[in-house]
Amino acid sequence: MPDLNVLAICGSLRRGSYNRIVMDALPELAPAGMVIAASPSIGALPLYNADIQNEHGFPAEVTALAEAVRAAQGVVIVTPEYNYSVPGVLKNALDWVSRVPNQPFAGKPVALQSASGGILGGARAQYHMRQIMVFLDALVLNRPEVFVAAVRSKVDEASGKLTDEPTRDIIRQQLAGFATFIGRVGTA
Ligand code: FNR
Repeated sequence: MPDLNVLAICGSLRRGSYNRIVMDALPELAPAGMVIAASPSIGALPLYNADIQNEHGFPAEVTALAEAVRAAQGVVIVTPEYNYSVPGVLKNALDWVSRVPNQPFAGKPVALQSASGGILGGARAQYHMRQIMVFLDALVLNRPEVFVAAVRSKVDEASGKLTDEPTRDIIRQQLAGFATFIGRVGTA
């Protein structure tokens, strides 16, 4: 069977981001046959402004991100929670991509993960993500959900590794479920 190509998008731009550490662990936790690659940086996108789009067309960074989403058979979004919601930088990227003709999230299988220092592990941001994804007509995996609470105790910051075995295990389970989900609902 050919590989399942999955794109991973990180909602944090921070050097040393815990969400980035989680995202970097995904390839080794993926089931056989699933290949996970990081998206182009969402930090290079300008703030959304329809005038830019109308006067100059879509910025190259937007097109690159949109085409990466389009080319992938599934997308995993790993994001922090900011003030009980989705970080602006991630929302900005989704807003840009949502305006690209034949917008690429439509019908796209998506899995969500979040990591936070708090005890809810970014759950509130994930539920806002689900709401956003309704308008984009993405197909979001319901379960298992991945909320990495108290994330500082679950990583080795020096090596940038996700070390907590129960967390690694639930991610393995989610990615295995995501492979099945893509097989069931994916069209690409
Ligand atoms: C936070 N943080 C946070 N955590 C949380 O669980 N719920 C929240 O609502 C917020 N709000 C919030 C707002 C802003 C502006 C910042 C900068 C941070 C804490 C956040 O979980 C923590 O900083 C994470 O380490 C951010 O993720 P990365 O950058 O490490 O991936």
